[in-house]
Amino acid sequence: MTDSNNVETEIERLREAINHHNYLYHTLDTPEISDVEFDRLFQALKQLEADHPELITPESPTQRVGFAPLDAFTQVQHEMPMLSLDNAFGEEDMRDFDRRVRSRLGDDKEIVYVCEPKIDGVAVSLLYEGGRLVRGATRGDGTTGEDITANVRTIEAIPLTLRGKGYPERLEVRGEIYFPRSGFSRMNEEAEAAGQKVFANPRNAAAGTLRQLDSRETAKRPLTMFCYSIGLVEGGEMPDTQKAILDQLATWGLRTNPLTEMRTGVEDCIDFYHQLLEQRPSLDYEIDGVVFKVNAIADQETLGFLTRTPRWAIAHKFPAEEGVTILRDVEFQVGRTGAITPVARLEPVKVGGVTISNATLHNMDEVGRLGLVIGDTVVIQRAGDVIPKVVGVVEDQRPASFRRISLPEACPACGSEILQAEGEVIARCTGGLQCSAQRKESIRHFASRLALDIEGLGDKLVNQLVDHGLIESPADLFHLTEEQLVGLERMAPKSANNLLKALAKSRQTTLPRFIYALGIQEVGESTARNLARHFGDMAPLRSATLDELQAVPDVGPVVAEKIATFFHQENNNRVIDDLIASGVTWEVISNDAASDALAGQTWVLTGTLTSLNRNEAKTRLQALGAKVAGSVSSKTSFVVAGDAAGSKLTRAQELGVPVLSEEALLELLESHDG
Ligand code: IVH
Repeated sequence: MTDSNNVETEIERLREAINHHNYLYHTLDTPEISDVEFDRLFQALKQLEADHPELITPESPTQRVGFAPLDAFTQVQHEMPMLSLDNAFGEEDMRDFDRRVRSRLGDDKEIVYVCEPKIDGVAVSLLYEGGRLVRGATRGDGTTGEDITANVRTIEAIPLTLRGKGYPERLEVRGEIYFPRSGFSRMNEEAEAAGQKVFANPRNAAAGTLRQLDSRETAKRPLTMFCYSIGLVEGGEMPDTQKAILDQLATWGLRTNPLTEMRTGVEDCIDFYHQLLEQRPSLDYEIDGVVFKVNAIADQETLGFLTRTPRWAIAHKFPAEEGVTILRDVEFQVGRTGAITPVARLEPVKVGGVTISNATLHNMDEVGRLGLVIGDTVVIQRAGDVIPKVVGVVEDQRPASFRRISLPEACPACGSEILQAEGEVIARCTGGLQCSAQRKESIRHFASRLALDIEGLGDKLVNQLVDHGLIESPADLFHLTEEQLVGLERMAPKSANNLLKALAKSRQTTLPRFIYALGIQEVGESTARNLARHFGDMAPLRSATLDELQAVPDVGPVVAEKIATFFHQENNNRVIDDLIASGVTWEVISNDAASDALAGQTWVLTGTLTSLNRNEAKTRLQALGAKVAGSVSSKTSFVVAGDAAGSKLTRAQELGVPVLSEEALLELLESHDG
């Protein structure tokens, strides 16, 4: 394609196709092409734009990756205030609301209401000018919010340009941005595995993600949005009912909630409430009630507003997913880094259809804040998929005899002293790897998939190995013999052999995996990789000063301190030396090699990659100096063919371009990691 007009047409065609498929996927929930095919379109567009950067526009679907961090958010004055809703807590409140509406409208007829799920996320306003998204803002106090445009632009469900025609010149769309439950659990599991902070519930996660100053971080999270109303409208007309407005928004590509229904009369609205309450557990988003809105805009105008709430709408709240039960005991669990977590043992109780007998109490500050004693009647809450928590105490039901809760002085697993550092909320067992609980957790971590990936070394086996005194540290794993193993429960000679083979295989690892496997506080997989790249080998990392550590991307003073402390502990050094002596090896990363090993090469990725996603594969290839292209030509150096690779693979074969499997790609990437 030499003619620049052709390139422009092709870019336009690809953008339209991508926007169309995004609309089918996000707004209508009826995708017509596979993720792989979508990715192909996307990569093709990216490649053309990379070759013709002058043709990139801010509205291009490729421009959702986020930008460099902001220093702070600027404030936004809402041109029309963002109001809140009055609440109904029961059916009688609903009937009262309906009576007020009818008497004000002077109508004997039943009112038509639009019934919408009340999404438990973050309220935002989107401003479109000439069909282009020009601003995204939080609700704030209703009058002044924060400009979160850069973050909002990364959310795929939010169109950067409206589809079709007929939209007003200036249109403000309002709705709720939320974190899907599934994505939330996944994110928390990953954060937990990396020893990072977890979010309490999907709403906090959505709010936290939207308040990220670095929109590239927001882009990594699966936020999405439901639109439920409009604000400012200039230079155009909108339909005259709430339902028609929602339908109109959907035709312009804005995502609206599919469970929305029109109901006539308050009794049918109450039925809708019960219907939705039943559906609630099966939804991939959290809802905390139903919003009922008078459908006719003319009626809404007649009804008007109170100070902060409209008279034409009400939120009928669902009962919180809460339960009340008795606190039978508090036990203290010991985590990988020695963190002591009080766990409530409860009289089993059903909350939201799930029986709960344990709940986390987080830390002793929380126990103090709740003023909790054993024997108390407590209120527990389930939020998303996270572990239930104790949120309150019913004080007047405290029994005459109760037990106070105090932090044990000695670790329940190893008897070492428990200390709480000045200014920290977390108390820790000081036993380090002497502590069987910490030992078990750190061995589990060491063997986990992203660490040394030792196949067949499950939780139960780790417990047995530690409890039988066969291993004390990860290094001891490599001294295990077949004889020792077959002596264990449910361990046939064949499985023992398999485990020994897996252990032998895992000795040959990579530096990032090894660093991650050590389980240093705050060092997750990506920090481990950065450390490996920066230092190239263990020796310089072990002796690095705080300043040197802070020169590594993503390592700030807190993380640097944790790393330095880890390498100052004799015990940790002994384990590392022992691991090296037991034959654990990796390739040293030479600094020059790391950045230009693949310089001058053009790679094409096609098909579905299973163990790393395409973006990750791409970034890692680029980090080695390769260019990653969207289409195969005679200039392509290598094609990586994942599952169900199609035309690009055929093309590569026709042109005689070497084709690599995903495994081969992984091997190559790892060999350059160290
Ligand atoms: S309408 C004037 N519809 O609930 C009407 N709000 O308590 C303004 N919310 O701040 C809101 N789902 O964040 C409306 N379908 C829905 C909603 C909804 C969730 C939130 C919104 C608002 C709060 C009001």
